[in-house]
Order: sequence, then C-alpha cells, then structure tokens
Amino acid sequence: MPTRAQASADGVWQGVVPAAGLCMPDVPLPDGASASIVVQQGAVQWVGPCEAVPARWQVLPRWQAAGALATPGLVDCHTHLVYGGQRANEFAMRLAGATYEAVAKAGGGIVSSVRATRDASEDALFALAAPRLQALLDEGVCAIEIKSGYGLALEHERKQLRVARQLGEALGVTVRTTFLGAHALPPEYAGRSSDYIRLVCEDMLPALAAEGLVDAVDVFCERIAFTLAETEQVFQAAQRLGIPVKLHAEQLSDMGGAALAARYGALSCDHIEHLSADGIAAMRAAGTVAVLLPGAYYTLRDTQLPPIAALRAAGVPMAVSTDHNPGTSPALSLLLMANMACTLFRLTVPEALAGITTHAARALGLQESHGLIASGRPANFVLWPVADQAELAYWLGHKPACTIVRQGRLAANGLAVAVAGADHVA
Ligand code: NIG
Ligand code: FE
Repeated sequence: MPTRAQASADGVWQGVVPAAGLCMPDVPLPDGASASIVVQQGAVQWVGPCEAVPARWQVLPRWQAAGALATPGLVDCHTHLVYGGQRANEFAMRLAGATYEAVAKAGGGIVSSVRATRDASEDALFALAAPRLQALLDEGVCAIEIKSGYGLALEHERKQLRVARQLGEALGVTVRTTFLGAHALPPEYAGRSSDYIRLVCEDMLPALAAEGLVDAVDVFCERIAFTLAETEQVFQAAQRLGIPVKLHAEQLSDMGGAALAARYGALSCDHIEHLSADGIAAMRAAGTVAVLLPGAYYTLRDTQLPPIAALRAAGVPMAVSTDHNPGTSPALSLLLMANMACTLFRLTVPEALAGITTHAARALGLQESHGLIASGRPANFVLWPVADQAELAYWLGHKPACTIVRQGRLAANGLAVAVAGADHVA
C-alpha cells in the first residue's frame, strides 16, 4: 500500500529530468527522459535512467511522483536577511524622484537600517528574519548566504552573525555567513574612514572569526562606501586569517573592484553593472563567479545592464540571487529573480536556473555539496509540478507547490508524494 512520504527521504524517486546541464550534467540523459534519484542516509546514492537502477536499490521505497521535474535545491548566494525595521519610506522617496545615493546622503539608506538593527535584540532579529527565510525555503532554497553589515560595531555585527547561524540550525538549512563590516561608514566615524577600516581589520574581523562566525568577508566598494585601497586592506586582513573574500563591485560606478577581488581569489563579485573588460578577464582567470542581482537593478530602476554577453563569451559563471535587503531589494523569491534575470538581463532559462543552483553554490564555495544532483552528495533537491523547466522562470509571483528534500530530510511535500513500500524502511 502506498503510504505518505516519511520525514526521512530514503527511497527512490523516478521522474522526468530537466535539460542536461541544469540537473545532472554528470549523468547525461536526453531532455525529457525519465531518471531516478536514489536517496539513503541523507545522501544521493545513485542517479541515472529509470530502467538502470541497480538491484540493491530496488528494495527501497518508491516515490510516486513520476510527472514531476527535479532540480537541485536552490541556493540564494547573496542576502542581507537579518536586520531591524524596514525602509518603505525610501521606496516612496525614490518614487518622488530621489536617487539611492541622494537618500543615503540624506541620512537614510544603509545607516537607517543600522539604527534599527542596533536597537533590536538578538531574539527580535531572529523573529524578524525567520519568516523571511521561511518564505525562501518554501520555494526550495537549500543553502543561503547571510551577511552582516547593519551593525557596524563589534557587538551588533556579532548579533547579526549569531542570528544567521541560529536561523540555519532552527530551520534546518545550510547558512554561510559573510562579514560585511565594511558596508557603510557608521555615523560615529564620520570623516574617519581609515580609523573605521582599521577597526574592521584589527578588531572586528579577528574577534568574529575567532568565534567561528565568519565564512567569508565582503566589502561595499563604491564612491558612497569604501575606496579600492580600503577594500584591499580588508581583503588583506581576511587573507591573513585564511577567509575567502567576495565583493559588492561596480554597482554604481566602475571602481576597479572586480579586478582587485579577483587578485585575492574572490569567490564572487556581485552587482557588476559597471564591470569593465579588464574586470571580466580578471574574474575569468581567477574563477570568480559573477553574481547578478536583478532585484536591486529593478528596484533602483537602473539602466546600466551588467555585461552579460561579455561574461557569457568569457565563460565566467553567472549566479543569480535575491540580494534580499530592506533598501534596494526587498525580494523573497528566487524564482522571481530567475524570471527577472531572463527578462531584464536576457539570460536564457538554463542560464538562470544554473544561476540559482550550480553557480550560486560555487559563489559560496559550496560546489561540492550543493547545486547539483549527483551521487555521493547530500540530498538537496526539489520536485516541481511543471511540464517544462521554463515554467520555473515564467510564472510571476507564483510559488508552485513543490516537494523539497533538504539535507536528506523531506522538508516539504507540496506534491503530496506518496511512497510505495515505505513499511520496509529500516
Ligand atoms: O546589495 N549595495 C550595497 N548593499 C546592499 C544595499 C543595502 C541597503 O541599501 O540597505 C545591496 O544592494
Ligand atoms: Fe548586497
């Protein structure tokens, strides 16, 4: 008798495979062919054509979801998910004609989120961020990056990063933390940028790293934030501690940040609307991922497109992320970002889907565990009720009911997948 799928995802799923390149590039199958994924003890044990499942796996419970499409679990590789307050007032200001830079100079922008974040307790920040994270998880996110950068003082940056870790544990999702102490100049350091950067490099980063709170280090390199030289100081501090770097690069102007980041072996350069040919060449040489953030581009009504054709021609992997933050991208749907990456940036559907899975995992240094369905990896995948993978980037504001296997657990069963032979689970 078929029974409901159990919390453990042990079993054999058999169904349709999306285009090769998204789902299982290491198991080439014709588009639309039927495939099986064998899961046991939290890991994918085998992937391949339905008719070739090895005998020893055929005793496992069999999932009844043959019409579904499988993708790797989604990866949101750039978020500022933990913060106090919200900034809807700035949305109204921009509608009235103010630019992002003008709002920032008028005391709004990042610094206004800093005030609200400093005023919030760790518990309050957790309570605010948990539903945001849940919204992303409901859509199949299996790994997410969460940055600090709204504390800008040791105790408040620590608070953000601790909450990020707690969210991962409480909601059962892989969280990579990024220290973004160099996000903006805190008001108490006005006119003393070099003193603040010294604090970031010599006090904040070493202390937070020693507490195990820093998986990567980021900087906002921009004329309204930090200079190239200041960015390099922070990268040097990260390098001394053996922590990988990434960069908010060339969002509003070409600062040469991407080339610098590439010299430090950056995992990713993010935004990059104003990225130059030199920046692209440096990223290619370093294997740095280009993270596209169409939510911020859209919200700011930017007109400078990132150099997609040149990135594509150079073979630089392109990831797509929400950049969830209260100022420039209050976005909580990675599928909507895939849609925008196609519509606004002209990515193809396979590029956009690789951008929210495989390449996003690489941007976090998680390419060995996330972003692909392959044997030997932790089981992180999503079964979607769609006939064509293009549907994943096509619907606007619709979250399809999906079945999610996260870290080997059946985290959601929107498809109401039943399992035949579940009684036999050891
Ligand atoms: O990624 N560019 C800088 N940081 C954020 C914006 C943060 C904010 O405005 O609060 C971003 O877009
Ligand atoms: Fe950002």
